[in-house]
Amino acid sequence: MTDAMTPDIAELIAAAREAMRHAHAPYSKFAVGAALRMADKSIITGANFENASYGLSLCAETVAIATASGQGKLADITSIAVVGGPIGGVGDAIVTPCGRCRQIITEAAQMGDRDIIVHCAGATGDAWVSHSIADLLPHAFGPANLGISPRPKD
Ligand code: THU
Repeated sequence: MTDAMTPDIAELIAAAREAMRHAHAPYSKFAVGAALRMADKSIITGANFENASYGLSLCAETVAIATASGQGKLADITSIAVVGGPIGGVGDAIVTPCGRCRQIITEAAQMGDRDIIVHCAGATGDAWVSHSIADLLPHAFGPANLGISPRPKD
């Protein structure tokens, strides 16, 4: 699904591109930024955070969602923008969340009892695509499988 570009989506993609500038990605040299739209319309961002022990690296979406969770807002994420591209290179190819990030986004979606929309774009350019997390990770395993209910809303 990709609907029309809106000011909300444009602002979220711009925030993700700003966050991307803070990527710690000296190994892959591929910067990724993520921006979360919260239920109160505020934005929480993150960038990929690599480690010399490569397998410990964290994706931008995971950093942003962990930040939201640390603020008690895991259940409040309504949409996410993800952008990325090679540092110092041409970056207009659209980036979609990796498989692990899809599972992390699913955790937020199910805790919030909603389907999160993921807007995907490159580091530059006007191209973008929007998908729901249910489309990106169908038939997902989640908290409901463990008998855990969504968090009660305030
Ligand atoms: N990366 C993300 O931050 N999010 C994704 O969904 C895909 C990959 C990061 C991980 C690594 O730091 C770099 O991009 C290259 O794989």
